[in-house]
Order: sequence, then C-alpha cells, then structure tokens
Amino acid sequence: MSVAEDYRLKGTTDEASLTIDGAEHRLPLLKGTLGPDVVDITSLYQDSGTFTYDPGFTSTASCESKITYIDGDKGILLYRGYPIDQLAEHCTFLETTYLLLYGELPNADQYETFKQRMTRHTMVHEQMNRFFTGFRRDAHPMAIMVGVVGALSAFYHDSIDIRDPKQRDMASVRMISKMPTIAAMAYKYSVGQPFVYPSNDLDYSANFLRMCFAVPCAEYQVDPVLARAMRRIFILHADHEQNASTSTVRLAGSSGANPFACISAGIACLWGPAHGGANEAALTMLEEIGSVERIPEFIRRAKDKNDPFRLMGFGHRVYKNYDPRAKIMQKTCHEVLEAVGHKDDPILKVALELERIALSDEYFVRKKLYPNIDFYSGITLKALGFPTEMFTVLFAIARTVGWIAQWMEMIEDPMQRIGRPRQLYTGAAERQYLPMEDR
Ligand code: SDX
Repeated sequence: MSVAEDYRLKGTTDEASLTIDGAEHRLPLLKGTLGPDVVDITSLYQDSGTFTYDPGFTSTASCESKITYIDGDKGILLYRGYPIDQLAEHCTFLETTYLLLYGELPNADQYETFKQRMTRHTMVHEQMNRFFTGFRRDAHPMAIMVGVVGALSAFYHDSIDIRDPKQRDMASVRMISKMPTIAAMAYKYSVGQPFVYPSNDLDYSANFLRMCFAVPCAEYQVDPVLARAMRRIFILHADHEQNASTSTVRLAGSSGANPFACISAGIACLWGPAHGGANEAALTMLEEIGSVERIPEFIRRAKDKNDPFRLMGFGHRVYKNYDPRAKIMQKTCHEVLEAVGHKDDPILKVALELERIALSDEYFVRKKLYPNIDFYSGITLKALGFPTEMFTVLFAIARTVGWIAQWMEMIEDPMQRIGRPRQLYTGAAERQYLPMEDR
C-alpha cells in the first residue's frame, strides 16, 4: 500500500498549517522511508481557491515512488535500497534491470528465466530496417531513436493495451531488449555499415558492443574490460528518480499513451543538453578547451553572468555534493583508457585539471557545483569507440529501464490520475474582438 493510500484510509496526525487571507488550512504531512516529508496539497485548491507555484519543481514531489532514492547533500544513490557502487561492482545489467522493475534482486532461477525472456526479444521486425533508409546518413542518432522507437507501437499491437498487466509486461520486455538493437542500427546506418543482428550467446552489454563494432568480414571478439565498462555505464545510467525525462514518460503515460510512445517522449526530453545531452556537450567543451592552459578562460566564462557558457558535466539539480556516479565513471574512464592504450589522452588531462581547479574555486564551492555523471562519461565513451553523437543514445538505452520501471509503477498506482498542472495566469484580461480596419 502507498503512503498516500494509507493516509486516505487512516488519516494522519502530522500536519502542516498554511494561512491564506486569514483562513488557516491544515495540510497532511506525509512521511516516506528516507528523505524529506511532503505536504499533501491535493485539496488545497478546492479548499482555498489557491494554487501552489513551483515552475522548475525545485520543491515539488510529483509522485510517490519506491524505486530510486537520491540524497543530494550526501551524494547517495540507491536503486531499491541498494547503493549504486555495489550494484555497479557486482551486478549484471539485466540483474539490475530485474531489481528496478520488480523490486528485488533475482535468485538464480528468476534471473535465468528473465535473461531468456530478454534474449528472445532482442531482434526487431525486419521491416523496421526500412525506417532507417528514410533518414540522411548524417541524421543525429537521437532523432532516429525518437522516430524508430515511437514506431514500435505500429508493430506490436498485442502489447499496447496498458490496462492489461500481461501486455504491459510484454511491452516492457520488448522495449528494454530492443533498445540496444535499434541504437546499434542507428550507429551502423550513420557509418554506412551493414546492420549486425543480436547474438543470443552474449550478455546485454557485450551484445551491444558487438552489434556496433562487428563487421561481416572479420570475427569480432568483445574485450572483457570494455564489456565491463559498458555494463557499469548502463547500470549507472539506468534510473535517477524523477528527472526531466522520467517525468516526461510519467506524464505521457498518465494519459494512457502506449509505452513505446512514452519512451519515445522520454528519449526526446533526454536529448536536451541540460539533461542527457550533457555528455555529448561535455566532451565537445573539453575538446574546445583543448589544453590545460586555456582552463582559466573557460572558468571565467562559466562564472560570467552575461555569458551563457556553462561547464557541461558540472552541477546538478539534486546533487549538491559529488555525484556518486561520477566517481565510478572516473574510475571506469581510467580503466578503459588504459585498455585501449590512451592512458595519456590529453583530453583526460584537461578534464582532471578542470575538475581540480573547479572544486577549489570559490564560485563552484559556494554554488555546490560538482562533476556529474556526464563529466567523465564522454571521454570514456569516445575511448570505447563511439562518436560523440552516440553518447546520449547510450544514456537512453540504459535509462529505458528506469523509464519503464517508473511507468509501470505509475500505471499500477491506484492514486494515479492524468497529470494536468495549472498555472499563474498573467496574460490579458477578457477583451472584445476588434475588426482589422479598426486596429
Ligand atoms: C543529468 O535530474 C537528473 O537526475 C538528471 C541526471 C539523470 O541521471 O537523469 O542526473 C542526468 O541531466 C545531469 C546534469 C547534466 N547537465 C549538465 O551537466 C549541464 C550543465 N549543468 C547545468 O545546466 C545545471 O547545473 C543543471 C541543469 C544540471 C541544474 O540546473 P539547476 O538545478 O536549475 O541549477 P541552476 O541552473 O539554477 O544553477 C544554479 C546556479 C546558477 O547561478 P545563479 O543563477 O544562482 O547565480 O549555479 C549556476 C547557475 O548559473 N550553475 C552553473 C552550472 N550549473 C549551474 N554555472 C556554471 N556551470 C554550470 N555547469
């Protein structure tokens, strides 16, 4: 049972008080397992005729969830209660997927069954190949992902009735298992190489690397160090509470839209440079800085209110401490650069020096701006062999698991209703039409 349901049934003695125009409104205070309490304002407008106002949702809980917990001040990230560093170290990506979707780590039988289900759905309908030929070869792969993923709803009519739990589960398995295949096809299309079919003999991460980098004229052996890095990167990016793209998926899903369309909406939102597009932007920024000597110039620009430039890969709405994922990304970055023989990559030197300077700079310290997950992921993904445009696509592959888990939780929540925010209207008051000749 949800806390909100529990409160509806039993009430609560914990309350907040809000006085508007002299009238006191007592609002329930709901307590979660961890993190801030919430003031339940569901009845505020009905009781007071007043809305609350929070355009960036900096102080607003949009839902109740049991999936992911973030403590931004302490730099803590838990998936279903398990610390992210333990999962990144010990879990496979499908084990983490099972945990996020169903709430518990799988035992050996559950894991085997789940893995077989996922493996059986990695192929896409052969006709989907034709979607790609409609795009220019230099189309951004995120544009292709938005289009092709949305089009899945045209192929899988037997799993789009969201009221049917079996269809929801089938659509979830299909979505998660097909994302790497579609992403690899987008990459192959961009480099003019033939698509590589998934292999049932490889795990999720190794299969993706092979679909991206194998060619028909040579055997492709997946480097275990790179496969481990890919697995960790997928796990780190899998979910992150109610971030912008997850909130997009929840809002789209609240109207009853099919899961493929909801995930396509999440991909579109993730593409933004302030969100998932930051990994691409962070590497572009590091390459623009180019050398350690130019770092002070860019630090100055980042602090200049009149300059829109920001240090990409720095800062976070929730983390006011080091993003725990960034630490693991930095470690993975070193391992991959070592494995591919680029341990002296000049861009890594710029990144490490930029981080050192920024973390000691009064502006960044005062504003609690630390490296986030995107700061080191770009260097790592480039060393893995991906072009910059593919970075956010990889983020989308992993985040599809979180989007699906959050979407399932929302659909199954008995308190769920269509999301329909209101506004503070400051436009023109009512006025009468004026014929053009009189204007
Ligand atoms: C992701 O939400 C999630 O969980 C997202 C994510 C996930 O897993 O889903 O973690 C993934 O999106 C990580 C964030 C990737 N984005 C970037 O790295 C882009 C650069 N970062 C910024 O655009 C910014 O920090 C945000 C968007 C991440 C957070 O923006 P907020 O919370 O709205 O903070 P803000 O923009 O109001 O900034 C607060 C202050 C501002 O100064 P003042 O107006 O108060 O004077 O800090 C400054 C900003 O100017 N600031 C920066 C900065 N980020 C914030 N100054 C320089 N460089 C930066 N990167």
